Amino acid sequence: MDANEIIVCIAITFCLINMGCSTTDPKDAKILSDFKNGLQNPELLKWPNNGNEYDPCGPPSWPHVFCSNGRVTQIQVANLGLKGTLPQSFNHLTMLYNLGLQKNQFNGTLPTFSGLTELQFAYLNFNEFDTIPSDFFHGLRSLRVLALDDNPLNATNGWSIPDELQDSVQLMNFSCSSCNIVGSLPDFFGKLSSLNSLVLSYNRLSGAIPASFYGSNLQILWLNDQDGDGMTGNIGVIGSMVSLTEVWLHGNSFTGSIPNNIGSLTSLKELNLNGNLLVGIIPPNLAAMALQLLDLNNNMLMGPIPKFRASDVTFSSNSFCRTTPGLQCAPEVNALLDFLRDLNYPSNLASQWSGNDPCTGPWLGLSCNLKGEVLYYKFAEAKA
Ligand SMILES: *[C@@H]1O[C@H](CO)[C@@H](O)[C@H](O)[C@H]1NC(C)=O
Ligand SMILES: *[C@@H]1O[C@H](CO)[C@@H](O)[C@H](O)[C@H]1NC(C)=O
Ligand SMILES: *[C@@H]1O[C@H](CO)[C@@H](O)[C@H](O)[C@H]1NC(C)=O
Repeated sequence: MDANEIIVCIAITFCLINMGCSTTDPKDAKILSDFKNGLQNPELLKWPNNGNEYDPCGPPSWPHVFCSNGRVTQIQVANLGLKGTLPQSFNHLTMLYNLGLQKNQFNGTLPTFSGLTELQFAYLNFNEFDTIPSDFFHGLRSLRVLALDDNPLNATNGWSIPDELQDSVQLMNFSCSSCNIVGSLPDFFGKLSSLNSLVLSYNRLSGAIPASFYGSNLQILWLNDQDGDGMTGNIGVIGSMVSLTEVWLHGNSFTGSIPNNIGSLTSLKELNLNGNLLVGIIPPNLAAMALQLLDLNNNMLMGPIPKFRASDVTFSSNSFCRTTPGLQCAPEVNALLDFLRDLNYPSNLASQWSGNDPCTGPWLGLSCNLKGEVLYYKFAEAKA
């Protein structure tokens, strides 16, 4: 035993005899004290006001605080009704691995989390943080779950998710719905092999689902209800993501057809495509899937409505030929649909060619003779 070890040994013995001694790392203690002082209603924490103010690790440790070797490893204050700001030096809690601040009224600027290398779980969702610093995600190399949903972050101009998040290679869940993200969906999300759940609903995303998502292991993909026109491009990549269980793409401007290999998503439970610009025929293998939810409303889907196996299915406001599932289209309608398929279903035609009789109703570009036979002579005009 060298002198230092003897001192440590004496200190520990002293602590065991006298429970009033301090075991908390002084920097960690200072940050917890600042955390408390930043609140308007600190009494809700039930943290002591007496002489061991600066000893959150105790023993006994303060309520909602967990420590290991005198370092703060967890703060769990979900849903306590706390109001106030976080100390800007919050990232000095370098041993923090699990943080639960969700469902309070924390406001002001989020401190940077830069350098919180042990942090695995961070729940900051359902608060009132209004600014996220650009280096927030730097060095979060242990991160598994990050929830930022429902914070008015950088509301005026919006913000983009910095590429530094791609260094969080163990990331499993990332959720940031209703948090003012603008621009395109970052490419790197498709390359994070551990990512299970990506929830980015109610933002201002635009552009396509990146090609990097081909074959990704995602189970949950929520990109629904983007403000403005929303996301664009086709959804073909979905057919390659065979682990998907929930796909919510509603409220965007996705185009093209439902991929024909959708049936290979054998774990899929929910598919919501409501309110896009999708065209084409419903793939037969989609009808055969035992989904819990299938929402196809408000698109420009054509052809027959199949008999669906899904338990909850809706498909109104499309361009189907019949209104009753299982009924086939008339032969001349099928011929016209084949023709449209070869043109990739131009949206001006796909939006109008509905029903089972091309000679009634406004089938743009079509004319019929007196015998009710379709004359094909105006397509050039309709395509223009
Ligand atoms: C946080 O909200 C309180 C009201 O609850 C307000 O007084 C305070 O100015 C806000 N702080 C910031 C930094 O926005
Ligand atoms: C959020 O806004 C602040 C202040 O306007 C800015 O400094 C910061 O870089 C923005 N955050 C991101 C991630 O862009
Ligand atoms: C990860 O996300 C899934 C789906 O959103 C959720 O069920 C699960 O509880 C999350 N895991 C953690 C540890 O937060």
